[in-house]
Amino acid sequence: MPSLTPYPHIIHGCDYNPEQWLHSPEILKQDIELMKQANINSVSIGIFAWAALEPEEGRYELDWLAEIVDRLWENGITSVMATPSGAKPVWMSHKYPEIRRVSASRIRDLQGGRHNHCYTSPVYREKVRAINTKLAERFANHPGVILWHISNEIQGECHCELCQAAFREWLKERYGTLDALNLAWWTSFWSHTYTDWSQIESPAPNGENSIHGLTLDWKRFCTHQTYTFFENEIAPIKAANPNAKVTMNLMGFYDGIDYWKMSKLLDVVSWDCYPAWHTQQDGDETYNAFWADAYSDICRSMLGKPYLLMENTPSQTNWQGICRPKTWGFHRLTAISHLAHGADSIQYFQWRQGRGGAEKFHGAVMTHANRTDTRVFQEVRGLGETLKRLDALCGAKTDAKIAMLYDIESHWAVNDAQGPRNDGIGDNDLMLRMYLPFWTAGYAVDFVSPDMDFSGYHLLCVPMLYLLRNDIAARIRNYVKQGGTVVLTMHTGVVDEHDLCYMGDTPAEGLAELAGIRVLEIDPLYDDEYETLRITKAPFPLAESYRLERLCERITAEGAEVLGVYEHGNPCMPDEMPCLTRNSFGRGTAYYAAAFAEDRFYSDFLLSLAERLGIQPALDTAFPHGVTAQRRTAQDGTAFWFLMNWTREQKAVTLPFALKDYETDKIYQNKLPLPPYGAKILVRAN
Ligand code: GLA
Ligand code: ZN
Repeated sequence: MPSLTPYPHIIHGCDYNPEQWLHSPEILKQDIELMKQANINSVSIGIFAWAALEPEEGRYELDWLAEIVDRLWENGITSVMATPSGAKPVWMSHKYPEIRRVSASRIRDLQGGRHNHCYTSPVYREKVRAINTKLAERFANHPGVILWHISNEIQGECHCELCQAAFREWLKERYGTLDALNLAWWTSFWSHTYTDWSQIESPAPNGENSIHGLTLDWKRFCTHQTYTFFENEIAPIKAANPNAKVTMNLMGFYDGIDYWKMSKLLDVVSWDCYPAWHTQQDGDETYNAFWADAYSDICRSMLGKPYLLMENTPSQTNWQGICRPKTWGFHRLTAISHLAHGADSIQYFQWRQGRGGAEKFHGAVMTHANRTDTRVFQEVRGLGETLKRLDALCGAKTDAKIAMLYDIESHWAVNDAQGPRNDGIGDNDLMLRMYLPFWTAGYAVDFVSPDMDFSGYHLLCVPMLYLLRNDIAARIRNYVKQGGTVVLTMHTGVVDEHDLCYMGDTPAEGLAELAGIRVLEIDPLYDDEYETLRITKAPFPLAESYRLERLCERITAEGAEVLGVYEHGNPCMPDEMPCLTRNSFGRGTAYYAAAFAEDRFYSDFLLSLAERLGIQPALDTAFPHGVTAQRRTAQDGTAFWFLMNWTREQKAVTLPFALKDYETDKIYQNKLPLPPYGAKILVRAN
């Protein structure tokens, strides 16, 4: 029997919904045999099974689940046991209407859908605690249960009276007095001063939406409420087995709650990855791939260890505008890219297509055809053969020297602000633009929240840190003082943690001094308008000029060296107005990029900077367009290289040293051919 520790193997798994097939025992019997044929070694089970587990209040029926979990385990298939709170049973919803969510416009849901319960309702929390206790008693010490999957894609917010009351309590705790709250929220604006706590209500489209501090605190509160809801979910599991591991499946760049905060409760981070593949007529998938890999890097960075790919489709989804299946061989490429960026699993939504319901046409390993000779089944089986041989990769580390600061609170604040650019301020776009060159050139990047320690990185990128807490500013200054290199950008250090504008020079809290500049004003361009950055002094190879768009901040150098200036076509603007600067601070250096630039700028600038700082990519070679690389180091010291070709063309990579194909043992001395959408796992040849 395989070892019982959570990750002796790369997990090759799927969401499994036997509750939809309890009336067809012959299907359930087939499933296990078919899973073995597909090289599936784990299932995520019970995710939406509440109605089958508790068909009426207090009557629990767990035998069917136990029987399946046992049978799976006897066949070498582990279970990721889910708690069922992602969808509430109909009887519960009718008996306890308070568990149904109320929208921002104060309309209570009818029963239906999923992911739509109230996080505050004591009734729902109690029901969740009770069912989780039953599940934990039965399964928390089961040798086949390797992980707990808490709820599903936890999301959204509820505006019911229970939530409003909890919000007010949370605010009392945070501010102590109404005077303090009124000041922090600047409620004297438009006479929105509160004179009693009971007057405070959550933001609403037909109500209060002009107090940014309120909106920001509401989002913080929703995270807090989700956090305590999650604590309530996991308490019975950890009580039954203190070593039980829990995860939550994240939804990529979903920004409804602060995932950084939630990650503190997780033993392992997992995410559900569904890019809209094959949108480009020329078959170039780099854009989708880099977006997905960026989020994988975020997941890996959250706990500084491998993440799980909890869901991806083996073929197509059912919910995108156009639901194209992954083309021939493409699934293997996407899977290997996840391994490359730190995944210890490849899991699917879903094992088997249901016959009815909203997701009946969603891709699955087993389709309605109920055959194993389908292309998708065979591709899944083939990938499973590869994963079977990759035990050594489990737990392998990524060694990143570059950190990208990603602050969700700043993201909330800058997108809630009215002005300077309501048609897309582009903070996430800027972050991804700064990430793209590193991804393209095969550098490892960690994303860090402001609360994380970034002192060990050689390069820190800080895209548009609009909301700046003073403790973070102090840490950034200190990082540079000690020898670090930081890249700051426009629209940084504008508001404090209450979303109140800083008075005085910006970027505030000493970052102006750090950068040796001062911001004068910010000019948002129309979508079809451009300005130009002219490089006046290149400390490393840069082009003569770059196109600027979206946001052009006018700055003045106060000690910083000017590396580039605006060329704007406006004769009234003073000449030589700085746009790109560099400043020495302590033992380190701060760069300031005042305008949003075209991709080529970030590529030239950031890659030169990385090289200058001696940071190494996964493989020191120039990759042809569409080919990317990453490296992970296994616990025994073995280095694994991953090469991905995101184009429909044959490519070749020049190798700096000989590498061996991990799957075929073939050795490549200096040229390595990569077929269209090909991917390779490699180790050193000797
Ligand atoms: C999400 C959910 C799954 C399923 C898939 C479909 O990720 O977690 O239950 O609905 O989407 O793509
Ligand atoms: Zn509520």
